[in-house]
Amino acid sequence: MSMKRTIIEIKSLYKSYADLQVLQGLDLGIKQGETITILGGSGTGKSVLLKLIAGLEKPDQGVIKIGTRDIVPLTEQELIPIRRKIGMLFQGAALFDSLSAGENVAYPIREHFRLTEQAIQRTVREKLSLVGLDGIEDKMPAELSGGMKKRVGLARAIAIDPEIILYDEPTTGLDPANTQRINQLIVELQKILKVTSIVVTHDLDSAYTVTDRLALLHKGRIAMVGTKEEFKASAIQEVQDFIAKKIVD
Ligand SMILES: Nc1ncnc2c1ncn2[C@@H]1O[C@H](COP(=O)(O)OP(=O)(O)O)[C@@H](O)[C@H]1O
Ligand SMILES: [Mg+2]
Repeated sequence: MSMKRTIIEIKSLYKSYADLQVLQGLDLGIKQGETITILGGSGTGKSVLLKLIAGLEKPDQGVIKIGTRDIVPLTEQELIPIRRKIGMLFQGAALFDSLSAGENVAYPIREHFRLTEQAIQRTVREKLSLVGLDGIEDKMPAELSGGMKKRVGLARAIAIDPEIILYDEPTTGLDPANTQRINQLIVELQKILKVTSIVVTHDLDSAYTVTDRLALLHKGRIAMVGTKEEFKASAIQEVQDFIAKKIVD
């Protein structure tokens, strides 16, 4: 792999909820333009890690550098320009049910930018088209299939042209055809938009399809990070267990 600069640098990250220690000194560096998958069993802290990177929650301790800036000490106000760089596809890809597909995609644009209505509608059409959903602006979420909802969620995640996209379980609950379609989209968006992507999944097949590198979260730390080949050849017990699906949901 070429010498790319590190865009996200996580050092000694700790996060607990009451007695539950979720992240326990996690270190991870993510390179600009790569797609990295975070793997791990259910409840290991994958979603928590994404929320910390997105600045939606604060860690107890540690450093999360995005670009050159540690976002941990930042106030809500100071986080606004950072959040503008990050698109997130939440677990479940929950859309606002009372808003049309188009308005769901327009939502983050309206939140972050002052644009003319015409410019907003143009961007909405462009983003929906990128995920293969031309002309569905006026449909309500209830009229869409599960796979289509995920794709609207994806269009919403890229609506503000983020530098970083966080995907939380993008294919969970989808049938194989839709899973493949979403995985393909992640790869395509990566190529077209040149973004850095972090994909959380417990699905090893999806990870192998979309990823430059894989990281396994285990007991609050990254047990292993490396390429698909390095991952498969790893002698680390947790990695072998995960591949053997001994650690599953
Ligand atoms: N806001 C919260 N309050 C209390 N416990 C939480 C909260 N968020 C997550 N947890 C707990 O932290 C652990 C890790 O959660 P999560 O990151 O969602 O796991 P996963 O790896 O499945 O995404 C789980 O045991 C979960 O119950
Ligand atoms: Mg989760």
